Amino acid sequence: MDPGSDLPEEYARVRALTEALAEPLSAEDQTVQSMPDVSPTKWHRAHTTWFFEEFLLAGEDRDYRPFHPDFRYLFNSYYEAVGPRHARTERGLLSRPGVAEIAGYRAYVDEAVNELLACPPERGAEVAILGLNHEQQHQELLLMDIKHVLSVNPLRPAYLSPAGTTEGARPGMPTVSGSASEPVEAQWLEHTGGIIEVGAGSEGFAFDNERPRHPVILAPFELAARPVCCGDWLAFVHDGGYRRPELWLSEGWAAVGREGWTAPLYWAEAEPGWDIFTLTGPRPVDPAEPVCHLSYYEADAFARWAGARLPTEEEWEAVAVSYRPECGFLDPGVLHPRPAGTGAIFFGQVWEWTASAYLPYPRFRPGPGAIGEYNGKFMINQQVLRGGSCATPSGHVRATYRNFFPPAARWPFTGLRLARDPS
Ligand SMILES: [Fe+2]
Repeated sequence: MDPGSDLPEEYARVRALTEALAEPLSAEDQTVQSMPDVSPTKWHRAHTTWFFEEFLLAGEDRDYRPFHPDFRYLFNSYYEAVGPRHARTERGLLSRPGVAEIAGYRAYVDEAVNELLACPPERGAEVAILGLNHEQQHQELLLMDIKHVLSVNPLRPAYLSPAGTTEGARPGMPTVSGSASEPVEAQWLEHTGGIIEVGAGSEGFAFDNERPRHPVILAPFELAARPVCCGDWLAFVHDGGYRRPELWLSEGWAAVGREGWTAPLYWAEAEPGWDIFTLTGPRPVDPAEPVCHLSYYEADAFARWAGARLPTEEEWEAVAVSYRPECGFLDPGVLHPRPAGTGAIFFGQVWEWTASAYLPYPRFRPGPGAIGEYNGKFMINQQVLRGGSCATPSGHVRATYRNFFPPAARWPFTGLRLARDPS
């Protein structure tokens, strides 16, 4: 969120956007869980509300009465300190509460939060800002998840109208025809290396995993000015990229065999070429748009095939800090990476896998209590992604932002950018 914005106004804006994202979806759409990683839309709407109820209202408002005694169990995601919770893998079984009751829950909590924000205690304002950033994260999760839900429906329903607005959009809308173009040649940005500072400073909002700011030593390196595009990926596919074990990490090659991967998630062989499923429905792959929905294993294999490597998160940040962190989410409303131009671009297309394991920064300390579970306990067996995608809310990311997923994850808006060592 914009650090200079008025908190009650920002609260209203973020909460309304979540509802706008759910608006095109039927009650049935909102209840489906298509795989264990996916949460139903209505669960996202309720869980983000529970976050304010649990961490803001219960902590700061003595007179607050929870909306429903069972919601603490149903909509706690992973906070052990809060207590037992409904299993993540069974969120799709929640035929009740229905969407109308969840709308009522949101309105009830909104009223109490608005009262509190009229004159928030200092700690309350901090928690409210965290809650808004949390809700923005769930806005992207909602889109990732509903994309997967719609993709496994043989009717291939669209979420958005082809015009790129949610107005009047309903599943089953006509699909967008692809305007295939060729990718622009990737330029390379040089960095001289040296001792640089990375991470968020003490001013303004940042998640705890972005702190503390600290020095690192970098050798000279070069970073591609744009993410890898579908045209580049087609060359990898045509060169047998998914059939050559020498390109793959052991775990990645096992996943290729086990899962039958032959292309990124949401690609399907068509005549001619490949189709891709997007939030505006299926259409031909556009070679000029950044490739999306890759696992870390695929990104790593591609980099090896290309004679390059993935950047470390510190290399990525050292260059990206010079660019404006703009994301395209609903603004102009294209929930898909757009064809790359000739200029350097670091934000708003895809989350970019880095070579860096998701680890605490030196001297990292998680916060006290349940909120301390937000990030720190996930610092194992995951990779850092940088950038921000076409489905990331405007104003949500920074050059220091650290996203993270397990290496096999493909349903987020994930892609890659190449790095190389100067010859
Ligand atoms: Fe959450």
